[in-house]
Amino acid sequence: QWTTASIVEEQVARIAEQIGDGKAICGLSGGVDSAVAAALVQRAIGDRLTCVFVDHGLLRSGERAQVERDYVSATGVNLVTVDARERFMDALAGVTDPEQKRKIIGREFIRVFEQAELDLQAAAGGEKFRFLVQGTLYPDVVESGGGAGTANIKSHHNVGGLPEDLEFELVEPLRALFKDEVRRVGTELGLPETIVQRQPFPGPGLGIRIIGEVTAERLDILRSADAIAREELTAAGLDRDIWQCPVVLLADVRSVGVQGDGRTYGHPVVLRPVSSEDAMTADWTRLPYDVLERISTRITNEVAEVNRVVLDVTSKPPGTIEWE
Ligand code: XMP
Repeated sequence: QWTTASIVEEQVARIAEQIGDGKAICGLSGGVDSAVAAALVQRAIGDRLTCVFVDHGLLRSGERAQVERDYVSATGVNLVTVDARERFMDALAGVTDPEQKRKIIGREFIRVFEQAELDLQAAAGGEKFRFLVQGTLYPDVVESGGGAGTANIKSHHNVGGLPEDLEFELVEPLRALFKDEVRRVGTELGLPETIVQRQPFPGPGLGIRIIGEVTAERLDILRSADAIAREELTAAGLDRDIWQCPVVLLADVRSVGVQGDGRTYGHPVVLRPVSSEDAMTADWTRLPYDVLERISTRITNEVAEVNRVVLDVTSKPPGTIEWE
């Protein structure tokens, strides 16, 4: 019988054994997985862990501040923020294929980490960070073909997209766990509710929620629409009822609209609210019509480039949760 406390105890012991007296680096994404993985590692090796937060420009509104403020004040962990927005934009220029995007984002992540590690190593008098902590979950392992006999559905960047010249040894303390177990571990470790109950958000971020090329301007449009949807869902008290609600910008699609006396020719955004236990399967969430109406009205009023809001009513399977 596995209790949450025994999972924590066992993982902390394993991590301590794996890392020995070495030093570890962890990329915080802002999500619960990396936050819990880092908290476990910190419990095992203390301040020999340094967390790195990469601002890749694919974040949602306010996310950087939440990591720098909430997570650091809750854990007291060593945190370094790297502003890599330009680098990621350059690497993604002209790319429209979803798997290509994931591979590029995963590759750039690791390169940025390696540079951060070199900088930290130099600052600390030369001792190398040999270990890279990742918040890989069991469903990620299975969907990337790491489990017995399963097909590669999507190469999740934190499993399948790693470059071959990887110079770190991986520490993946959540590899056997489902999301609900990870949340319980986070609570057991004393992380605040805002982090433990946070909805999942993909590592490649808004980069896989823009259907088409990722540009700074399109990211701004999507960030604004996404912030409105999240605000209204939170205000309606629905955060605990949905697994997540991707907002997807159909950047290469335009449709005709009318606003005031003027004809518009703007982009649609898709709302993709889903209910799920573990993200392996999902159902579309029957959101109240008045909430949908508020989200739609606000997005089309407040985001000039968007003139249509549509609702995705597809379960998984056959649709995946994300559109890419
Ligand atoms: P799908 O779209 O495969 O998503 O039904 C299942 C869950 O995984 C998240 N997701 C990702 N997470 N890197 C990640 O770290 C990725 O490349 C990725 N793609 C999807 C998605 O948000 C959902 O929670």
